Amino acid sequence: MDDITFARLTSHLTKVLGLDLTAYKQQQMRRRVGTFLGKHNIANADELIRRLEADKDLLQALRDMLTINVTEFFRDGAQWELLEKQVMPHLLANKSSLKIWSAGCSRGQEPISLAITLDRLGALRGSRILGTDFDHASLAKARAGGPYASFEMGGITPDDRGRYFNEGPQGFTAKPNVLASSRFAELNLLRDRFDTGFDLIACRNVMIYFEGQVKTDLVRRFQQSLRPGGVLFIGATEALLGADLEGFDRMGGNFYRRNTEAMRLSA
Ligand SMILES: C[S@@+](CC[C@H](N)C(=O)[O-])C[C@H]1O[C@@H](n2cnc3c(N)ncnc32)[C@H](O)[C@@H]1O
Repeated sequence: MDDITFARLTSHLTKVLGLDLTAYKQQQMRRRVGTFLGKHNIANADELIRRLEADKDLLQALRDMLTINVTEFFRDGAQWELLEKQVMPHLLANKSSLKIWSAGCSRGQEPISLAITLDRLGALRGSRILGTDFDHASLAKARAGGPYASFEMGGITPDDRGRYFNEGPQGFTAKPNVLASSRFAELNLLRDRFDTGFDLIACRNVMIYFEGQVKTDLVRRFQQSLRPGGVLFIGATEALLGADLEGFDRMGGNFYRRNTEAMRLSA
């Protein structure tokens, strides 16, 4: 697809998907659109635009493909180990509960993993977990705590299945006490306002899709949303470097702590 056609398609999709595709890495977008056309036997951009007008499922499939909502419980286990053994205990040193945000929570595996981790530390009750995503279908599943098919239960030990989930004909659903501290809301990270005062923000495997400056702006907004001393938890293949690190201290692993604000003296 030539540049002009891709730009025209991007501007059309931005309108119909309500998603600013220019904020996402362009090479990746192009590759994914190409794969999508091949998979659905669509010859070119014009045919795609025509078919999207008539077919809501195709529109949802395209949105899923472009924003990728792959997720898992306790994704990248070693980082969750650090979270449970070191980061959360540090955050809980002077308080008994935490205010947490799972930004880009997909179908809910991440906020549930956070709830289970808090429970293991005896800090679930009283804590608040906010799960947000801009994908309706994912968020509906996250809000309901499932059901998750067996293949989606990787990362959950057999013991924890029994402890934290009810099994039904459709699969496993998180028990009410696991979800009691969680709230879910639709939120577009590139457009909507953020709440503040978080002890921990998990934004994992979301920023990797954003263009450099978009990511830098987002990291700055997360920094402002954390309380001083609060921690940003990112994906295992991500890192904060250069300007993105401003306002943070590296803790190790995929954890970055918001600096306590420097005091500025006026002249
Ligand atoms: C790859 S999943 C990551 C899920 C989870 N954080 C994890 O690491 O397993 C990326 C999620 O980010 C969401 N997402 C992408 N762009 C977004 C945006 N602009 N605002 C809100 N959510 C977005 C997608 O809908 C998807 O659910």
